[in-house]
Amino acid sequence: MEKLLEIKNLTKKFDEKEVHSGVNFTLFKGETIGLLGNSGTGKSVLLRSLIGLEEIDSGEIYYRHHRIDQLKEPELVQVRTKVSYSFQNGALFDSISVFENVAYPLFEHTKLSEKEIESKVMEILGLVNMVEAKDLMPSDLSGGMQKRVGLARSMALNPEVLLYDEPTAGLDPVNVELVLSIMNEFKKRGFSGIFVTHDIPAAKKICDRLLILKDGKIYFDGKVNDFENSSDPFIKSFSSSV
Ligand SMILES: Nc1ncnc2c1ncn2[C@@H]1O[C@H](COP(=O)(O)OP(=O)(O)OP(=O)(O)O)[C@@H](O)[C@H]1O
Ligand SMILES: [Mg+2]
Repeated sequence: MEKLLEIKNLTKKFDEKEVHSGVNFTLFKGETIGLLGNSGTGKSVLLRSLIGLEEIDSGEIYYRHHRIDQLKEPELVQVRTKVSYSFQNGALFDSISVFENVAYPLFEHTKLSEKEIESKVMEILGLVNMVEAKDLMPSDLSGGMQKRVGLARSMALNPEVLLYDEPTAGLDPVNVELVLSIMNEFKKRGFSGIFVTHDIPAAKKICDRLLILKDGKIYFDGKVNDFENSSDPFIKSFSSSV
């Protein structure tokens, strides 16, 4: 299997507080992995570290066998077109419309004509069920709609990997299902992903493999089945903590 991301012995401290003390895992092409762990275990810091939004202390991060943890900002910008981070709240630009938010990365990073950009944006908005809201401003959207636009924007440049930080948190059940179906659709289209969540049932639905972060390390890395059937006391209490 093709390795997309490989993380080796990653460590990260904030002052004296060690968040990661040797994290190892690999993301293979076509898979979506769930990254679970109690609050404060460093899931968000780990996602941000993968694309250089946090500086790591030691260890190595590879994207397609190229080391990326020591890159400078202009090269990181390139990496982020391939490994796309979708912010928890969508992180939309407030002063431009839904359409313009999704079009923005295409104007910024591609040489597509205005017509081509328009058709691409409309296609993606269709995928997240937001065509009718295209002219609205972010402040006019519900939380669920903002997340969907954020997801649309994060996939505009056809990245290979989508990093989802709690994409369903704070949503009502209908919107949770909508976001999960969007993620499933992305998956069908060949995108790989890392799904950070506290929603274990959702992770089981979407993910091929689950990772659990505990005490600065990957405590568990295995298939959903192995997670469910584990006899490890921590995993058992974790999986039944829903
Ligand atoms: N910029 C920062 N400066 C200092 N400490 C930080 C910073 N960012 C994160 N931390 C600390 O790192 C630890 C891990 O934080 P992180 O946000 O990654 O946790 P998390 O697993 O995503 O938690 P949650 O499930 O609640 O989102 C926490 O103890 C947090 O306080
Ligand atoms: Mg977090």
